[in-house]
Amino acid sequence: MNFAGRVNVLSKSETQEINDRAGELKRKGRDLVDMGAGDPRFREPKPVRSAGKKAIEDGYTGYTEVGGNQNLMSAITERYEKVFGVDTSNLAVMSTVGAKSALFEITQLLYEGGDEVILPRPYWVSYSAQVELSGATPVFVTGERDDHYLPTAADIEPKITPATKGILINTPANPSGGVYEEKQTRDIVDLARKHDLFLVGDECYDGFVYEQDRFWTLASSDYQDALVVGSTSKNFAMTGWRLGYILGGTDYISELEKIQSHFTSSPPAISQRAGEVAFRDELTLSRGLRKRFKLKRDYLAEELSELPGINCLPPPGSFYLFPDVRGTLTEMGYEKNEDDKLAEIFLEEAGVVTVPGSAFGVPGHLRLAYLPEKDRLGEAVERIDSTIRTYI
Ligand SMILES: Cc1ncc(COP(=O)(O)O)c(C=O)c1O
Repeated sequence: MNFAGRVNVLSKSETQEINDRAGELKRKGRDLVDMGAGDPRFREPKPVRSAGKKAIEDGYTGYTEVGGNQNLMSAITERYEKVFGVDTSNLAVMSTVGAKSALFEITQLLYEGGDEVILPRPYWVSYSAQVELSGATPVFVTGERDDHYLPTAADIEPKITPATKGILINTPANPSGGVYEEKQTRDIVDLARKHDLFLVGDECYDGFVYEQDRFWTLASSDYQDALVVGSTSKNFAMTGWRLGYILGGTDYISELEKIQSHFTSSPPAISQRAGEVAFRDELTLSRGLRKRFKLKRDYLAEELSELPGINCLPPPGSFYLFPDVRGTLTEMGYEKNEDDKLAEIFLEEAGVVTVPGSAFGVPGHLRLAYLPEKDRLGEAVERIDSTIRTYI
């Protein structure tokens, strides 16, 4: 039996493979410091959990409006007004089954065979898979290392051809942790306007920005062909609740609702009630969290930079470090691009889970999610250090 040709573009995610191997070792009783998956290890806030339980008790468990209920929609737009100072009067919103289905629906709406879509590299793996499933072709662009590889308008412009239909930006970024400043995002908006391109902003990590004056949401631009994607997964540690959203012009949202009505229908009713609480109480819920993460980021980046050949800049956002480990590989007697080998050695010999940069299109790097507590991060650094030294 032959499956449809479109699945040939898909391969199993390398992140998933590392997680599977780490899970296997854990089941065998191995003590691992897990900096692999981007699943926040803290629990979702208590009021969020209570709202979910109450929704079940109240019987709020059926189908809802395709784009989500009105209270949730208002909670999302009010969040943009309160947290980011955005005037949302011209924006509509639709809730989705996580940011992943939001991004999938967007590619289905915007792209088709023959189109090119500009994507950042390093990238979150699903971007290119989703673009390819729409029939379009991904075109990658990488920025400067000192700016955590975020492509600027000047990097993007030479990639634009008559076939280009859209640009995707990811800020704060996974895996690099880079965050665009207002001017950088505005320049990309101007570029999209000049060439008449769709502009999609994946801002799932917008709660994890450590230099607050840096982040500027694309929702603040008045570009009518921009769509912003957000999620409760990272900000509120609600990965399994599957609740994300899209913010954009009313004409876009009504077309997206048509797609969603034939795809997932609304996200779960229970999650909508829980999400409403999260968005309304965000400022209280996230107090302290950012401070703790910033401390862990600084500590881990500094400690890693002391190790042989590791070059680690502390990035301004998300909860990942993305150090350049080409020097370490060379000192250990490997090729500069054998980051998958290094991740394997760290996993098997040091008991530390990381993800090779090649999984995100940039070999010679590793991604480390600084989610474990500080003492465990210290333990990881010691183990990595002694493992490297057995090779040099
Ligand atoms: C950059 C980025 N976008 C989107 C997602 C998907 O998030 P969700 O759980 O809301 O589907 C992730 C999850 O890891 C991510 O890292």
